[in-house]
Amino acid sequence: MSSGDSFYITTPIFYPSDVPHIGHGYTEVAADVLARWHRQAGDDTWMLTGTDEHGQKMLRTAAAGGMTPGEWADRLVEESWIPLLDTLDIANDDFIRTTQKRHEDGVQAFVSKLHDDGFIYTGEYEGYYCVGCEEYKQQSELVEGTGPFEGQLVCAIHSKPVELLQERNYFFRMSDFQERLLALYEERPDFVQPESARNEVVQFVKQGLSDLSISRSSFDWGIPIPWDEKHILYVWFDALLNYATAAGYGQDDENFTRRWPAVHIVGKDILRFHAVIWPAMLMAAGVEVPKHVFAHGWLLVGGEKMSKSKLTGIAPEQITEVFGSDAFRYYFLRAIAFGQDGSFSWEDLSARYQAELANGFGNLASRVVAMITRYFDGVVPAETAPTDADLAIRATVTKAAIDADAAMERFAPHEAIAAIWTIVDELNGYITEQEPWVLAKDEAQRERLGTVLYTAAEGLRALATLLSPVLPKATTTLWDALGAAPALGALAEQPLRDAGRWGQLAAGATVTKLAGLFPRIEDPTPAAAPARVTA
Ligand code: MSP
Repeated sequence: MSSGDSFYITTPIFYPSDVPHIGHGYTEVAADVLARWHRQAGDDTWMLTGTDEHGQKMLRTAAAGGMTPGEWADRLVEESWIPLLDTLDIANDDFIRTTQKRHEDGVQAFVSKLHDDGFIYTGEYEGYYCVGCEEYKQQSELVEGTGPFEGQLVCAIHSKPVELLQERNYFFRMSDFQERLLALYEERPDFVQPESARNEVVQFVKQGLSDLSISRSSFDWGIPIPWDEKHILYVWFDALLNYATAAGYGQDDENFTRRWPAVHIVGKDILRFHAVIWPAMLMAAGVEVPKHVFAHGWLLVGGEKMSKSKLTGIAPEQITEVFGSDAFRYYFLRAIAFGQDGSFSWEDLSARYQAELANGFGNLASRVVAMITRYFDGVVPAETAPTDADLAIRATVTKAAIDADAAMERFAPHEAIAAIWTIVDELNGYITEQEPWVLAKDEAQRERLGTVLYTAAEGLRALATLLSPVLPKATTTLWDALGAAPALGALAEQPLRDAGRWGQLAAGATVTKLAGLFPRIEDPTPAAAPARVTA
């Protein structure tokens, strides 16, 4: 991608029927790291997240809590979903709620257009529905229940009984789009990623598409169908449109043209909605399909998808209160290959925090700053006559920056972080080999000592920039400690695709003491944690 391109990235919008768990946090953080990367690279970036507030799940949860769904959503959004962004240090540009007027107006304009153009008709729906998924289910997608649900058919994801629906409602002619969708997957093999997700979608569409029931009349918590107000729109049809309405569809053409099409980051459980239904809706409306749909895997507990309804949810604050938001961001993106499932464990989180963040990166930064303070009164020395060892560090930095950008472009943040970490590892080895504390004892080695510490400090400058999308807090502290801002400007202004260019940190910059970026944690496993993790 060249600098200045539009990069509009979205998370799924979350059901605020319940509070967030770390699975939701994972999606937010992944989208945020990609957004921050592109923003800092100079792309015209916009990150959208939000809440999906209509549908039966919301209606029922609110009723169980003795509130209207609107009151319930207001409370959860304000008390839990907006604060989540702060907990995880998410730099989103917009937050859409599907109960906002801008969304409802845009949705009604869209569905009216489809109706006027003949893509919607009335029909009779009879079939199963899972309220947990808010999804119509085929018999083949259901499994035999166990325990209290023995003898009943249950949803394979929620393990709860499905409901039999029989309603007269409106249908969207999705079947018309089977061939065009298959052509899309064929012509643009990177439309659905990763490859396994693409294959699943292609197989699914090849089996044939049915038309989609898009309205409900047995309850009224939703967006009314403009030409028949006894019906409300099916919650997914409404929800998918958030990506368009937030960017100004039907209301602000200039902004919509600037942002659209989007890159969607979604969990694999909602892949078909995004890779089949959504592009078909857009094709019907004559709007460009998304740039990419990337399906990430699940955080598993005991081999199953972590979920609040199965009582396996861990609240994001349980992790951030102990380890901090940077560690949360780093851990999930580094430890899990993006696109695959991963099992969370406190032990693994704690081990990586200690080995990689505290000992690997944090110690490196404090030692280098401390040595510049001790041997050069805090003034970054100039480099002279670089040796092979110094040139090897330069080469590592250049390669890491190129590899990391390429990895972010292909939605592989785990590979990007691994590429950047070669700088941490190489620099640690370099300092051990160069032994600046030995050079410091010999006045004749003064220039050499200066070159070694410049090389280390300049390596840290590159690390601060390259890691800032993942570790925004620690890298800001490091940037201040390096005294980089007076000559180079704020960290957020450092062009990311130029981070690998050697020699940017000015000799003569003044460093300031750096307290541990990642302090030692005495009791890494919160006492409450085990009780929350049991399935
Ligand atoms: N409201 C819909 C999305 C509409 S988008 C137009 C929805 N909401 S959700 O709150 O149930 O899930 C939101 C996202 O969280 C999904 O991408 C889902 O995959 C993700 N996760 C929920 N549990 C998860 C894990 N245990 N692990 C990883 N992601 C998980 O679906």
